[in-house]
Amino acid sequence: MIASSTVPANFQPAPGVLSGKTILVTGAGDGIGRAAAQAYAAHGATVILVGRTVAKLEAVYDAIEAAGHPQPAIFPLDLSGTDENAYRELALAVAEHFDHLDGLLHNASVLGERRPLESATWQAWQNVMQVNVNATFLLTRHLLPLLQQAPSASVVFTSSGVGRRGKAYWGAYAVSKFATEGMMQVLAAELENTSQVRVNSLNPGATNTGMRRAAYPAEAPTTNPDPADIMPAYLYLMSDHSAAVHGQAFDAQH
Ligand SMILES: NC(=O)c1ccc[n+]([C@@H]2O[C@H](COP(=O)([O-])OP(=O)(O)OC[C@H]3O[C@@H](n4cnc5c(N)ncnc54)[C@H](OP(=O)(O)O)[C@@H]3O)[C@@H](O)[C@H]2O)c1
Repeated sequence: MIASSTVPANFQPAPGVLSGKTILVTGAGDGIGRAAAQAYAAHGATVILVGRTVAKLEAVYDAIEAAGHPQPAIFPLDLSGTDENAYRELALAVAEHFDHLDGLLHNASVLGERRPLESATWQAWQNVMQVNVNATFLLTRHLLPLLQQAPSASVVFTSSGVGRRGKAYWGAYAVSKFATEGMMQVLAAELENTSQVRVNSLNPGATNTGMRRAAYPAEAPTTNPDPADIMPAYLYLMSDHSAAVHGQAFDAQH
């Protein structure tokens, strides 16, 4: 069991708390990633929208622009791709437009199969590990130099309750989230005292998104908060309020 903490109860994000920051969000076209991209932009950040469905990214782009927030950027990328060059090229393309990166939210994930390991399929296992773990590693690996150019940068790895305590039938997804926690801890230890880059993990908790509805088809969608309701933790970890917070596992919900 991995111990976790929540954001300070008195944290109130000021309207311009992310002004001047550039933040990349993966899976920015839907669910929690879309809400995070919009919340970051609403609080002053220039947001780099990364995802696989361009039409969804464009809809988020349009909403941010229509609201009068800083103009975002779109970089399509399918994280199921195993060619390292695609990740290297994404980082190079970002570097052509931005001289540093203040934030990286690893949000995109797939649920995969909900069944016993005994009958799990190799193909589904590989895809979950690719999107949830390998792509996260590759993006971190290639974006780290840009993050190190920032005066104070934040990397947030998205976890899950089943990535902190194993649970039957959550298969590759749960294992991938334990790996995500491990990646966060290893990177945090490596960057301790040597870098202005802080690294933490965040478990959103049960949230009303397509993934949650797929995992719990019998559950009423209104049972859980909407993505917009859990944004304080996402804003806290990207803001300078968390500048000294490093190597910790957070929960977005109490
Ligand atoms: N919702 C919950 O209750 C809950 C609980 C615990 C943890 N989480 C975690 O929170 C994060 C967000 O989940 P969510 O509920 O918002 O899920 P979601 O609604 O399914 O959204 C997932 C996002 O990831 C993107 N994505 C999936 N596969 C991709 C790929 N191969 N390449 C690029 N992008 C890809 C999706 O893009 P498309 O829309 O284009 O497919 C979508 O934007 C995930 O890491 C999840 O594990 C969620």
